[in-house]
Amino acid sequence: MPEADTRTGEKKFYEDIPMKTPGFFLKGSNALDWGMKNRLARIFNPETGKTVMLAIDHGYFQGPTTGLERVDLNIVPLIPYADALMLTRGILRTTIPPASTKPIVMRASGGPSILKELSNEEIAVDIEDAIRMNVAALAIQVFIGGEFETRSVHNMTRLVDMGLRYGIPVLAVTAVGKEMTRDAKYFRLACRICAELGAQFVKTYYVPEGFETVTASCPVPIVMAGGKKIPVKDALTMAYNAVQQGAAGVDMGRNIFQSEAPIAMLKAVKGIVHKNMKPEEAYELYQSWKNEKQG
Ligand code: R5P
Repeated sequence: MPEADTRTGEKKFYEDIPMKTPGFFLKGSNALDWGMKNRLARIFNPETGKTVMLAIDHGYFQGPTTGLERVDLNIVPLIPYADALMLTRGILRTTIPPASTKPIVMRASGGPSILKELSNEEIAVDIEDAIRMNVAALAIQVFIGGEFETRSVHNMTRLVDMGLRYGIPVLAVTAVGKEMTRDAKYFRLACRICAELGAQFVKTYYVPEGFETVTASCPVPIVMAGGKKIPVKDALTMAYNAVQQGAAGVDMGRNIFQSEAPIAMLKAVKGIVHKNMKPEEAYELYQSWKNEKQG
């Protein structure tokens, strides 16, 4: 117990300075609770309002994806260069050093493998286990227009309810079926449904026509999904365009870990996302880092 506070005449109350009540830096997040804001502030850099997440959760439905055969060898060295890691609890527990303080966005849905109908997912992580693993957010796939559309939306809303109970934000990942057209109209629909039904942030693909209408009509932050491996300059240009058109960063996988120089690629993407670097400049830096073997 501290001693009684008997000092007199020395207290400072700064009566003339009103206490500030600043808003929260992320779009649509001001009404969230403190713990949820704090977790989001670990994922999104409060100075730039953006993030570079590294997605390595592919194994949850497609097994040892190229570049992820040995997460201990290929991915662990990249951890310091990403702002957040998106992965499964299996990889977290088995392979990611617990001393790492990098925020974790944990894949929380699963079920079908690539051999089956992918939209037939269920929630695959208990909220208590997510808390135990100190995650910064939970991620779940939403299949708008897919065969099991309603189930995937219901999975998301249940996860959002659980997340709200404990202050854990939910990332809705818009999954596009092979038969669907990847255009702004589709992504406006998918992203808006996810946000309307409670997701605190949304991951979606970039489209060259009208992406700014996707970000503008979504009331929560959008992070751009990377997609399949494309030439480095194209991937950097896509990240640049997405951020310039309103994305709050990226969540990229194969374009990072399947690159010839993953560390150089992460550093180049960070330049684009956090420093508004032009794709040409980021590409030159990528080349020099790669040649210096820093990649
Ligand atoms: C979506 O299905 C999963 O989150 C993926 O594992 C991840 O988004 C894929 O990232 P990328 O397309 O950039 O390799």
